[in-house]
Amino acid sequence: AYLNFDSSKLTKFVHDNELAEMQAMVNAADSELRNGTGAGSDFRDWLDLPTNYDHEEFDRIKKAAAKINQDSKYLITIGIGGSYLGAQMALDFLHNNFYTREEETTQVVFAGNSLSSTYLQDLIELVGDADFSINIISKSGTTTEPAVAFRVFKEILIAKYGEEEANKRIYATTDANRGALKEEADANGWETFVIPDGVGGRFSVLTAVGLLPIAVSGADIDELMKGARDAQNEYVDADLTKNEAYQYAALRNILYRKGFTTELLENYEPNMRMFSEWWKQLMGESEGKDQKGIYPSSANFTTDLHSLGQYIQEGLRNLFETVVKVDKPTKDIKIPSQEGNLDGLEYLQGKSMDWVNTKAYEGVVLAHTDGGVPVMTVHIPDQSAYTLGYTIYFFEVAVGISGYLNGINPFNQPGVEAYKTNMFGLLGKPGYEEIGKKLNDQL
Ligand code: PA5
Repeated sequence: AYLNFDSSKLTKFVHDNELAEMQAMVNAADSELRNGTGAGSDFRDWLDLPTNYDHEEFDRIKKAAAKINQDSKYLITIGIGGSYLGAQMALDFLHNNFYTREEETTQVVFAGNSLSSTYLQDLIELVGDADFSINIISKSGTTTEPAVAFRVFKEILIAKYGEEEANKRIYATTDANRGALKEEADANGWETFVIPDGVGGRFSVLTAVGLLPIAVSGADIDELMKGARDAQNEYVDADLTKNEAYQYAALRNILYRKGFTTELLENYEPNMRMFSEWWKQLMGESEGKDQKGIYPSSANFTTDLHSLGQYIQEGLRNLFETVVKVDKPTKDIKIPSQEGNLDGLEYLQGKSMDWVNTKAYEGVVLAHTDGGVPVMTVHIPDQSAYTLGYTIYFFEVAVGISGYLNGINPFNQPGVEAYKTNMFGLLGKPGYEEIGKKLNDQL
């Protein structure tokens, strides 16, 4: 397999027979996922997206990216949740840690993923007089956070370029037929890209949602899709001995039933922090429902070994860890020699820094295992676009199986509506007057 899933350090927590004993349940989950007999079956189109995507649109994405690279210093990418996290994590994963400071290319900057006025004003000041375009991304077309940010930047865009040119600088990624954004796009002649009906927000990174900003950043979206396509072909067998994504799903379920109810996704690369944020949405929104589910959390190592490390080693024993370890770093550095050895580091001179990082990882795995924390590792070969596509698909297919193993609908998200209703009531949105009155009384 291209990725290498290592569960060998679980022996203290999971007996040899346990995985095989999950096979019948995995077969059932596989059948629900593949045959559409499970709950939420209308939202499984991400499963064959890497082979069955709209090639005409894919080419339009590349053309739009080329135009934006020509005429814009900034691409204001506006979206939240599934319409944001995938693009941000991919940009971070694929580029230099300081890539936003490179002058030559279009800078992809994000807005509409919070309601912070300070953030938005800071961004307006960053863009200043520079040329820019907007990619507004919203499946529903009505989400408040992106809608507010879009209004603000649309006004600036029109003031700067006039309506006609502004309309050529707005790219709308939304539903094929429905929603306020689709209507506005059609009315103004904006170029539109589609979030397919059968792909939920958190599974949409390999649609135009992720692909346009990723292409604008200069990353290779063909390779990204190729990696996902190869993973699609790799993780098809329901046989647990042959399918590592399914093994991961089954082992998380085994651990969950033993009381390990919080999973930490971990990395040893600072530019994978957002990968964990993307993964947290994928896992949390898919599995946290019906008053059950593993709580997805994350830690960034070795940084957080100096903060969360104490808790992980000795705190409440409900944690397990999944490390996504890059086997070959994008860049490596040799540790220099220093006369006098005053810092006491001479025993490391000439060693590669990544070797030290890997020794830290090995030491942590053994220490945490000793401390009562089960640790699994997904080894990924490198931080290429191909590997990212592959890894995205690994976790997507794993959460589909994992959700069905836990008897929930992995593809809906009814819980995200509750706060919205309250917010609309408090904001005085037409139609929400009664709930607004009730809530204001409570406040
Ligand atoms: O996964 C989800 O459904 C959510 O995180 C949505 O992606 C998020 O709420 C944004 O929704 P929309 O794309 O409709 O603006």
